[in-house]
Amino acid sequence: MDIIEKLIAGHHEVKERVDILSKVVKTLDSDAFIWDNVLKISSFFDKEVKEHFKLEEKVLFPIMKKVLPKEKQEILKEIELEHKPILKMLEEFKKIAEKHSNLSSRLIRENFIAISHDIIENLIVHARKEDEKLFPLIKIYFSKENYKELEDAYFKYLKV
Ligand SMILES: [Fe+2]
Ligand SMILES: [Fe+2]
Repeated sequence: MDIIEKLIAGHHEVKERVDILSKVVKTLDSDAFIWDNVLKISSFFDKEVKEHFKLEEKVLFPIMKKVLPKEKQEILKEIELEHKPILKMLEEFKKIAEKHSNLSSRLIRENFIAISHDIIENLIVHARKEDEKLFPLIKIYFSKENYKELEDAYFKYLKV
């Protein structure tokens, strides 16, 4: 699996987890609510999603920045700028997940629901944008050498 396939697979995983989160949020007030799910999702966000973002930022985006023509730089920039606010949401989610295992107060429940909805929306839109608008540019503009460069950067990144 090359790095782009790996990133696309990562998006599928994000969609799966986000679907689970939507269901979890809906069961919040019922007996079916399982806190364990929240912790699993939080740990997925904290490890896999953060790592995915880092890989894009450190390995893929710098090469794209170099290769893409001027008129395509804007979408790259736009997508790159979405990472930071999403990471903030994930951090917020983690904090709530770690601290409030029973979501006892109304305010905490409302906060949890709000941040979950923010994540559900933003993460999916972000991943879809990459799938539909960013990754296709790789196929158009990357030469064989650029793919090689991408692979080298990836292995170098793994070693650090
Ligand atoms: Fe991304
Ligand atoms: Fe991504």
